[in-house]
Amino acid sequence: MSMTVRSLTRAATAGLVAAAALTAAAHSAEAADTLGSAAAGQGRYFGTAVAANHLGEADYTATLDREFSSVTPENEMKWDATEPSRGTFTFGSADRIVDHAQSQGMDVRGHTLVWHSQLPSWVGSLGASDLRTAMNAHINGLMGHYKGEIHSWDVVNEAFQDGGSGARRSSPFQDKLGNGFIEEAFRTARAADPAAKLCYNDYNTDGVNAKSNAVYDMVEDFKSRGVPIDCVGFQSHFNSNSPVPSDYRQNLQRFADLGVDVQITELDIEGSGSAQAADYTKVVEACLAVSRCTGMTVWGVTDKYSWRSGGTPLLFDGNYQEKPAHDAVLSALGGSGDPGDPGDPGDPGDGTLSCTATYTRTADWSSGYNGQVTITAGDEPISSWTTTVTLPAQQSVSSLWNGTPTRSGNVMTVRPSWNGTLAAGASTSFGFTVAKNGSDAAPAVG
Ligand code: XIL
Repeated sequence: MSMTVRSLTRAATAGLVAAAALTAAAHSAEAADTLGSAAAGQGRYFGTAVAANHLGEADYTATLDREFSSVTPENEMKWDATEPSRGTFTFGSADRIVDHAQSQGMDVRGHTLVWHSQLPSWVGSLGASDLRTAMNAHINGLMGHYKGEIHSWDVVNEAFQDGGSGARRSSPFQDKLGNGFIEEAFRTARAADPAAKLCYNDYNTDGVNAKSNAVYDMVEDFKSRGVPIDCVGFQSHFNSNSPVPSDYRQNLQRFADLGVDVQITELDIEGSGSAQAADYTKVVEACLAVSRCTGMTVWGVTDKYSWRSGGTPLLFDGNYQEKPAHDAVLSALGGSGDPGDPGDPGDPGDGTLSCTATYTRTADWSSGYNGQVTITAGDEPISSWTTTVTLPAQQSVSSLWNGTPTRSGNVMTVRPSWNGTLAAGASTSFGFTVAKNGSDAAPAVG
């Protein structure tokens, strides 16, 4: 992260957290059992939209901090939140999100500078030349405040109409400044923060259709004329009326072939269970298949705060429990999966999860013994396992090999070190040395 920030306070904070970020990333990369670390293993970020007013909720923040490597403020950087009256910038809520993200070593996507929606009414009442000045001042105000701290900015959002025409959407910018407002916004943005990737972002552009063709033509034109654009964001709000398109990957690829990065910026898929999980898998696989697809962002942490309130479109349910969709995403990202939720797609065995653990004492002496636990996969291959070893109260483990232990009182939970993946019927073992401390009883293994 390079940190050349206008405000001294923001710069100082940012510098401190850069070091913390490296430690966090290195730590979680080993386990690859979270969305962020698994995506990092694929060279991608995995982000979420965040609302500042939920950051005080412990479960929300714990889930956010554990799972995600990038955040997008859901509303806090929009025009109505940041410049409610002309020339008066209010950054309080957005700063809270950026500060929190930086304290956790997460990157931040900026969303969004020029958009017809969540636009204060004063903007719509300006004449053309004033509007141009105000648009550029708004871009400079936001990008200046966060200079060096945003990995990608949605410079212009949703400038094209839905439906078959491929026309531009009516907005104060379009209606008064014409097509050229988009190009002007990108040029202003490049000068304001040369380190930020500059994206065009839209919805219903996820497959090949008239709207995405129109965006494609614009990007192609920008590239040919040297208008600064680095990335295209595909919102990817899906439901039964707007399913994951079968040509999603192909569409991402054709944009990438124009010489821009592509990002999945607001992913949510209404539904539940294995059907929802399968759709999420399609999206993740499409991104991973396109080398310039640099990351994915889901549009919220938990179903209970989704803007699609009835649609349960996210990866964690209202109680922050991992849904089948979560496990499917983790597995598609090459993560270790979590055999704790039998029945989830992506889990080993898909509901007929089976492995057995058998314990034997392999050596014995007066003050101690060696134990060995052999894990054998059932009818299906497994990619991970978890075993608990409960010791009699007096005993303590002095060393353990071929497994990764975490201890809580006299219960030791052991997960794989190098030996998580087992073919159907195959076995692996871990071993440990115990100090008897007066008790010769055997541990319970489960
Ligand atoms: C949505 C937010 O999620 C809601 O909280 C808000 O009320 C409306 O905006 N496209 C975008 C996002 O680019 O900014 C929108 O976010 C969802 C659609």
